[in-house]
Amino acid sequence: MRILILGGDGYLGWPTAMHFSARGHEVVVVDNYLRRNIARETSSEALFETPNLPDRASIFATVHGKHIEVIIGDCADYRTLESIVRSHRPEVLVHYAEQPSAPYSMMGFNEAQRTLQNNLGVTFNVVWALLQHAPQCHLVKLGTMGEYGTPNIDIEEGWIDVHHQGRSQRFLYPRQAGSLYHTTKVLDTDLLWFYVRAYGLRVTDLMQGPVYGLDTAETVGDQRLMPNFHYDDIFGTVVNRFLVQAVAGIPLTVYGRGGQTRGYLNLNDTLQCVELAAKSPVGAGELRVLNQFTELFSVNQLSERVKAAAARCGIDVRVEHLDNPRKELEEHYYNAKHHGLLQLGLEPHFMTEQVLVEMLERVARHKSAIDPRKVQPRVSWNVPNRGGQ
Ligand SMILES: NC(=O)c1ccc[n+]([C@@H]2O[C@H](COP(=O)([O-])OP(=O)(O)OC[C@H]3O[C@@H](n4cnc5c(N)ncnc54)[C@H](O)[C@@H]3O)[C@@H](O)[C@H]2O)c1
Repeated sequence: MRILILGGDGYLGWPTAMHFSARGHEVVVVDNYLRRNIARETSSEALFETPNLPDRASIFATVHGKHIEVIIGDCADYRTLESIVRSHRPEVLVHYAEQPSAPYSMMGFNEAQRTLQNNLGVTFNVVWALLQHAPQCHLVKLGTMGEYGTPNIDIEEGWIDVHHQGRSQRFLYPRQAGSLYHTTKVLDTDLLWFYVRAYGLRVTDLMQGPVYGLDTAETVGDQRLMPNFHYDDIFGTVVNRFLVQAVAGIPLTVYGRGGQTRGYLNLNDTLQCVELAAKSPVGAGELRVLNQFTELFSVNQLSERVKAAAARCGIDVRVEHLDNPRKELEEHYYNAKHHGLLQLGLEPHFMTEQVLVEMLERVARHKSAIDPRKVQPRVSWNVPNRGGQ
């Protein structure tokens, strides 16, 4: 397949590019380093440095003997994206190119505006570039489980049948996100659904939970091929934060009561899911929504798992409950369906103690680089920190 990956320098984009390239597909990646720039601006740099995209591609070529074409460019600029799609005519377009930090999107006016304009702008440009130059291309778009929020009823896989006064209709499942970032994903889904209905695009929207993990089949052999690992309050997921806190001897910071339940998945399963989606394209005029996670647990359960794994490494971990900087339910009903990807053939890798131990060992190699100030919450949902400037 000819595959175009937008956001190819990112945590998911780079491993995805290597995964497809290693399996013989023709891969082009695009990135404008937005993530690296925001990380620098907010003092949220990754635990260890990763080479820039052209260097990563040339290391990959040396180690694996495969080519990944790299384009540094801004997908929010229509002329840039249009010319890339026109010249490459992808069969699959994987769209990761968004600002993915919820806290960043809640910092203030400038960060909110940048998140909204970038995320919606890229999705809108993707739609039009495909309509104009590759209308048969299958768009595989990354959404998030956070689009659904935490409703007091079961979360279906994208759609819900509503029966009302004797009649019924299938609708997109109701969405009520908890941050502006997650809201941009809701708006993306609505935008895509409109263009699928209007012009017959082919779209798979993957509602993904938080991803953890660093090693994939392609990172073996050269550490420089690893994806970025952020552990700060802005880009780091709760899993990464807990692992780093454990290694640094800092109490694990649970926000509020810790009953927040989410669906998690291993990085290797993200790669499987995206490949499974790409290999089973939907028909013209179809929007397929798949819930992409493999297991559910609460923040408290996660802290217990990290604590147990750390004990195996001889580390005694304490857990501290902080006032929650976010606005979210801290104890709630949560039952999200996730059958679609299993039916397509997903074979899950679960978060075993061994997996956590291996991640702790990897983090421990970079212990001296840990900056404890980065793991405390710096952004509150209650008051915008800064106004427009
Ligand atoms: N990592 C997770 O746990 C997770 C969970 C659910 C959903 N997602 C979604 O998956 C996607 C990838 O996430 P990630 O963790 O790899 O994030 P990331 O920030 O590491 O990767 C996104 C990449 O896109 C690039 N990018 C952003 N805007 C761009 C633009 N205008 N032009 C070109 N490149 C641009 C960034 O520079 C970055 O390299 C995102 O859409 C995110 O919302 C991620």
